[in-house]
Amino acid sequence: MDKFVICGGNPLKGEVDISGAKNAAVAILPAVLLLDGPCRIENIPNIKDVNMLFNILRDLGVKVKDEGEGTVYIDPVGTNSYTASYDMVKSLRASYYILGSLLGKFRKAEVAFPGGCDFGFRPIDQHIKAFEALGSNVDLEHGIVKVSAEKLVGTQIYLDVVSVGATINLMLAAAKAEGVTVIENPAKEPHIVDVANFLNAMGANVKGAGTDIIKIKGVDKMLGGTSYSIIPDQIEAGTYMIAAAASRGDVVIKNIIPKHMESLTAKLIEMNIDIVEGEDWIRVKGNPEITKVNVKTQPYPGFPTDLQPQMTVLACLAEGLSTITEGVWDSRFQYVDELKRMGVHIRVEGRVAMVEGPSFLSGAPIKSYDLRAGAAMIIAALVADGVSEVKNVKYIDRGYENVVEKFSSLGADIKRVKG
Ligand code: EPU
Repeated sequence: MDKFVICGGNPLKGEVDISGAKNAAVAILPAVLLLDGPCRIENIPNIKDVNMLFNILRDLGVKVKDEGEGTVYIDPVGTNSYTASYDMVKSLRASYYILGSLLGKFRKAEVAFPGGCDFGFRPIDQHIKAFEALGSNVDLEHGIVKVSAEKLVGTQIYLDVVSVGATINLMLAAAKAEGVTVIENPAKEPHIVDVANFLNAMGANVKGAGTDIIKIKGVDKMLGGTSYSIIPDQIEAGTYMIAAAASRGDVVIKNIIPKHMESLTAKLIEMNIDIVEGEDWIRVKGNPEITKVNVKTQPYPGFPTDLQPQMTVLACLAEGLSTITEGVWDSRFQYVDELKRMGVHIRVEGRVAMVEGPSFLSGAPIKSYDLRAGAAMIIAALVADGVSEVKNVKYIDRGYENVVEKFSSLGADIKRVKG
């Protein structure tokens, strides 16, 4: 298995372009199944999760033509299957969007229970509740979620927990249902709005995405026929912002939507990091003295859980006691033991990590537990003294485009070594 060999100590300097958003792309690609004609999608990140989705779509009979530079022409008209096998979907959490899309298209879907990063128990009860509310029967047999409906009829649904996946799945299943579906207590992440904008561009009628209530008026047809460009990746941008601050560097993060970064920029400013914002860029300039911080992850517009591990690394470099509270997932601190091996002082109690700093990190062999923890390991290795080897980079490849090239262009000493 490949690993990254990183020699720490270089402050990151320069400019980095942010790719299209993974968590928007992995929802928009399955959404194409709902269309009655082809479309063109731009700004698709070249990452493993997206490539796995292309394979799933091809397996279902969808024509996918790569036009280069992140643009793909997709024609779903020949879709001839409502089944996605375990082998296809096992390592991809977002495969559950195939369920909502196929249900909306064929009124029937059979998709293996989704895989993905391990943050403890990852239920899909809210997805099931939503499908049932629209009139479907849902069964779990031999690890396969089977959903079918005579017809899908819009209704009012209150989500018991704020769930990105359930909100998007409901929008997908309801886009071609009869009547109006109202989602109360939906997630409001930027990718929720992006999926709604995509559906509307293709002929759907979705209103209120990004607010407390989403209304979907079902349509008979979604003709597609147009191009859509995916938003920039909020989490990739945040990862480079934190890396710039941690390395005491000076980096302009380009092609982003600064509004999506507000919860992070507010915390970085609190930590004595200099931030300058432009229309579609943010400049992050680190300072030798980093101030302690208290962070709690929450659904958007709160601080994103997907930046929690990276922020913990930054907190290790801050003077005093910082607390990092995980408010979304039950178990997302497994990576802390890796950081401890580099010499940091962190105590985890339940969902709270108490970080005593500043620590001097020394290079060590470390491994990625999951995608974002993997990104945190890169940041830790970049600021550590000496050489670190980051193992299990398959997780990082799932969600970060050209990560070695991007960090190298900022002056990092990082190499991929084939294993
Ligand atoms: N939850 C339930 N029941 C459900 C669904 C969720 O109780 O039916 C709970 C979860 O256990 C969790 C909370 O609700 O405690 C939030 O889960 P959510 O459904 O929002 O997560 P998700 O849709 O499975 C997406 C991202 C994750 C990100 C979370 C939270 C994708 C493909 N994944 O997951 O991203 O952490 O939202 O923002 O969009 C990543 O990119 O590294 C990643 C893990």
